Amino acid sequence: MAQSLKAKMIIDKSFRIAEVDKRIYGSFIEHLGRAVYGGIYEPSHPLANESGFRSDVKELVKELDVPIIRYPGGNFVSGYNWEDGVGPVADRPKRLELAWRTVEPNEIGTNEFFQWTREVGSEVMMAVNLGTRGIDAARNLVEYCNHPGGSYWSDLRRSHGVEQPHKIKTWCLGNEMDGPWQIGHKTMHEYGRIALEAAKVMRWVDPDIELVACGSSNTGMTTFPEWEAVTLDHTYDAVDYISLHQYYGNRDNDTENFLALTMDLDHFIHTIKSTCDYIKAKKRSKKTMMLSFDEWNVWFHSNEADSKMEPWQIAPPQLEDIYTFEDALLVGSMLITFLRHADRVRMACLAQLVNVIAPIMTENNGRAWKQTIFYPYMHASRFGRGVSLMPVVNSPKYDSKDFTDVPYLDSAVVYNEENEELTIFAVNRNLNDALELNCDVRSFEGFEIVEHLVMESDDLKATNSAAEEKVAPRSGGSAKLDSGIVSANLNKASWNVIRLAKK
Ligand code: AHR
Repeated sequence: MAQSLKAKMIIDKSFRIAEVDKRIYGSFIEHLGRAVYGGIYEPSHPLANESGFRSDVKELVKELDVPIIRYPGGNFVSGYNWEDGVGPVADRPKRLELAWRTVEPNEIGTNEFFQWTREVGSEVMMAVNLGTRGIDAARNLVEYCNHPGGSYWSDLRRSHGVEQPHKIKTWCLGNEMDGPWQIGHKTMHEYGRIALEAAKVMRWVDPDIELVACGSSNTGMTTFPEWEAVTLDHTYDAVDYISLHQYYGNRDNDTENFLALTMDLDHFIHTIKSTCDYIKAKKRSKKTMMLSFDEWNVWFHSNEADSKMEPWQIAPPQLEDIYTFEDALLVGSMLITFLRHADRVRMACLAQLVNVIAPIMTENNGRAWKQTIFYPYMHASRFGRGVSLMPVVNSPKYDSKDFTDVPYLDSAVVYNEENEELTIFAVNRNLNDALELNCDVRSFEGFEIVEHLVMESDDLKATNSAAEEKVAPRSGGSAKLDSGIVSANLNKASWNVIRLAKK
């Protein structure tokens, strides 16, 4: 018989970490695989609107309530001429796309993507090419997008039928420039210099923009975290955020170790915070650098298929990971980690949004469907807005191959003061036993349980498909509230969302 483990938690209104910046529920669309063509855009699809955008995909994006979407890459951006993607579509060139070895038709570009983000109620986080291009192309793009008119590039936009400036606020200074796979890969000094000079003139064009400098591509880079220290030494005063990227996989089929990977994520964020603060101290600066975790997810299922792909196709299936139930648990834990770092992680982009390592999948000319990871992402985005509170947790722990003292209970708490709602997000990492949770919420007088959502499966490898949704949350978890104590059974290997609100 399964034995029950006990975990204790105290939540108090005054244990505030920070107001959650809703942009931590951002995502990413790259010109890669079927993300754009066959994903958000498929003019021949029966559900496409007059602009060629699939309305079924738009509805799913709206369900996720995605506040910001990074575009157009990714590795793609480091070889991209943004001018190829504006103006009459018939005149746009088809280009060899070297990052992913495909052909880019340029049917969708800056203006179309901006329009799509408006249709789904989101904002654009725009990346500029600091690989093959540089300062000039970057400042021209800011002028094209954000300047009202009366100059060459802004009038060009107007001549393309876009009278009002897009006013794009958030700009990434290149992508993963530390990686040898990047077109135009740079040393840390080279990147620090070009990022500083690009930042300077982009802000001269539009002083209202916010800028994100590239951090390390992942913690395994040999230049990590020296890259951050050196590049920030150049750019500290000129930028607002440093980026972090991290993908995880369960290549050894060791789920206990896989679910513990947020220990690594937590360590990564701590390291970057400390590196930023070291440069802050060195520069005697008053400014605190914020973190933009602008690529994160599970990514490994599709690696082998991708290595066999025929090059130079338009929109072939690439990076089409089909996610399992256990992947959804890790995605939930990653969101929990960001919430616990809400004081510094101000943006985060689930990479990516449609078809490419994505929560939303499509069939060409067919159905759109939800992967397992759709659900924890949707729950966090919908219910995780407010103040992130620091729960005091006492949980039994385990050791895995790479980690020691991993708490079975992984949790974050968000208090929405305006709506008088409290949400507890919790993963039970124990693969065999339930966790009996006892949670003190006495500072929330007059609150009651609204619902306890649970996602669980007897099969850690269960996946969804267009035909069948095997993994989905259900309401009706066991949470009860009595005299200010929430008690709940968190089933083995489960994702839980316990929602309370004032009566
Ligand atoms: O998201 C897929 C790829 O992962 C991006 O293009 C790149 O930035 C990262 O290596």
